[in-house]
Amino acid sequence: MKIFIDTANLEDIREIAKWGILEGATTNPTLLSREGKDPEKVLKEICELVPGPVSAEVTSEVAEDMVKEAQKLAKIHKNIVIKIPFTVEGLKAVRALKEEGIKTNVTLVFTPVQALLAAKAGASFVSPFVGRLDDIQANGMEMVEDIITIFENYDIQTEVIVASIRHPMHVLEAALVGAHIATIPPKVIRQMVKHPLTDIGIQRFLEDWKKLNKKG
Ligand code: G3P
Repeated sequence: MKIFIDTANLEDIREIAKWGILEGATTNPTLLSREGKDPEKVLKEICELVPGPVSAEVTSEVAEDMVKEAQKLAKIHKNIVIKIPFTVEGLKAVRALKEEGIKTNVTLVFTPVQALLAAKAGASFVSPFVGRLDDIQANGMEMVEDIITIFENYDIQTEVIVASIRHPMHVLEAALVGAHIATIPPKVIRQMVKHPLTDIGIQRFLEDWKKLNKKG
């Protein structure tokens, strides 16, 4: 499973990119607005910090305008993938961009049939939001599992990016159901590397090693 980072914060991306685990990044209008900087400059810098696809979302609501916005965003860097919200207009835009060779990531997906339609329209990626379904007592990961089953049934090449991840268990569950990608907030990535028994074990090794050196 590929690990993408889900943020537009350059400091977080710069730090975690050094760990050697990232294969892409996702942003959205909310994440970019939090940074309060020129979005195009931020997106370009993200593309220079992480290898692989970087999702940039359109905010237009009509297909024709989405396509124009996408063409502009795609010029920022070769790794830019265009995030398109799941709507009828979005499907039309995905199809048009597919014809132009511009990759898309259909976002705000909440059902397996939405993911199927997005793939049929030509999306390179679909982003089912697990956390927002869990927030309303629905089972987000079950939805992801159904998408994976459908895509495998018909050898659909669209990649599933598990998004709206709230904690490390979402990452584990995404990997267990065979998702292609998990896009993870920096906070959750940092949670993934911490375990008290690892910390205790390292401390004990170091203390015992010091004892040996004292004897020596
Ligand atoms: O990539 C989509 C993700 O950023 C949405 O997460 O926490 O707003 O549901 P959240």
